[in-house]
This record gives sequence, C-alpha cells and structure tokens, in this order.
Amino acid sequence: MKASELIIKTIDIPGVPMVALEIMKLIDQSHTSLDDLQQAIIADEALAARILKMANSSFYGVHQNINTISEAIAIMGFKTLRTIMLAASTRDVYKRFGLTEQKMWEHSLGVSVAAGIIAAEMPLLNNEEVVVAGLLHDVGKTILNNSQPERFSFITQRMNEERVTFASLELEIFGFTHTEIGYLLSEKWGFPQTLSNVILYHHAGYSDVQSLADPYTRTLCQVIALSDALCIRLGVGYRGPMADLELGEDQWQEALGISEERFAAITANFKSAYMHKKLSYRE
Ligand SMILES: [Fe+2]
Ligand SMILES: [Fe+2]
Repeated sequence: MKASELIIKTIDIPGVPMVALEIMKLIDQSHTSLDDLQQAIIADEALAARILKMANSSFYGVHQNINTISEAIAIMGFKTLRTIMLAASTRDVYKRFGLTEQKMWEHSLGVSVAAGIIAAEMPLLNNEEVVVAGLLHDVGKTILNNSQPERFSFITQRMNEERVTFASLELEIFGFTHTEIGYLLSEKWGFPQTLSNVILYHHAGYSDVQSLADPYTRTLCQVIALSDALCIRLGVGYRGPMADLELGEDQWQEALGISEERFAAITANFKSAYMHKKLSYRE
C-alpha cells in the first residue's frame, strides 16, 4: 500500500452534524411544513444564525431584512435551504477555531464573494450554487487540518517561505491534495454532483477542466479557479499577497471571456464587497 493510501485511510471524514441530518430528512419528506423546518432549525441557535446571515446576504437580491427562519425558508425554498444548511454546517467541522481556521474561513468567504461577482453576469450559473461552491471549495483543507495538524502547519509555513502553491506541497508530503479529501466528504454528505466536482477539480489543469463534459460544471469550475487565484493573489486568507505565484488567471479569464479591463473592475469591486461581507459575518 502506498504511503498516500495509508494516510488517507487514517483521515477521519466527519459525518453530517446531527441537526443538519434531521433537517435534511425533513426537507426530503413531502408532508413537511415550513413550521416543522423552522422548529428543527432553531433547535441549533448557531446554525439558525448562520442561515439567517446567508439569507440576508446581498446575493439573494432581497433588500428588506429577513428576521425569521420561516421568512428565510420562504425566500430561499427547500432545495436552496438544503445547500445553504450544508455550507453553514461545515463551520462545525472545524475541531478548533484558532488563527489557521480563521484564515481558512476568510479565504472561503473571499472566494465565495469573488465568485458571486464574477458569475453575476453569467446567466447560465445559479448564484446560490456559485456562492456555496466558493464557501466549500477548500473543505478538504479543514479535514486535513483536523486530522494532520502538524503536517498541515508545516505545509502552510513552507508555502509562505518558499512561495509555492499549497497543493504542490500537499502532493510532495501526502501524495494527494485537499481536493480529493474534500471530494470524499462531499460524497459522504451527499453534496449535489456539480458541487462535488467543483471541489475535486478546482486545482485541476486547464485541459482537465476543459474536458469536463457538462458545460455548467465546467463554467462553475472556471469561476471558482479564477476566484481562488484572485484571493490567493491578494492574500485573502493568507499571510500576505502572493504576487509571484503562477496561478494561471489568464487562461480562466480567457475561458470565461473576461477582458483585462473587466477583470480589473471585478478586482476593485471584490475588495470592497469582501470587506463588507467579512464585517457582516462577525459573530
Ligand atoms: Fe483549494
Ligand atoms: Fe482555495
């Protein structure tokens, strides 16, 4: 057995949190009422608060304040609630919440904000799916950090010193990357297939992404890869900007038909939107 297979076997992929499991069961039952769902959600205060924050996020284009869970469900619908709840639950996956975890959370938030801006002018993509894909693209890093904290911080340290990508160091040290671990979690939690594929392919090479048969998944992967590069470049969730890394933004921009001027505007727009969003998430 290869070392990478051995390590992967020792990694504990957490199950879906109990409350989330309960809510998903309710969503899948045809006779569930809005009130049943609301009762189940408010049993977990932290989850309820996160769902409200997401529902109030400008991504939904709702301009009045949503104050109750039932209003949130009415606006989002059951299917969206299911995805949003999965995203909100991943916060519970963190075993501890120190500086490393704070940075990872900031990065995920940054990528979801950037992806929301990039996808805003792409009618093909569903905005809520884009935002959730941004929040969850690096979920594999959280799992790796939980089960291999020493190796994880060693990689982070080397990445900062050597200015190389996280994934290249993971390959060197583990023989696999957080994309595969994230995919294992997404299978276990029953994420929609598009989301699972984005988690698996977000660091794949250009030709691998281009060969994805489904145009929706392919475009979403490109959007997340470009948003990820933008955040890494600016240092969102990192110790500082990674100016000299090779991140291949050009090819994703080209694939998505985004000109240099538009990308500059997206970047400027992102900086203010991200600061705003970060403040609104403060707990
Ligand atoms: Fe990643
Ligand atoms: Fe990332």
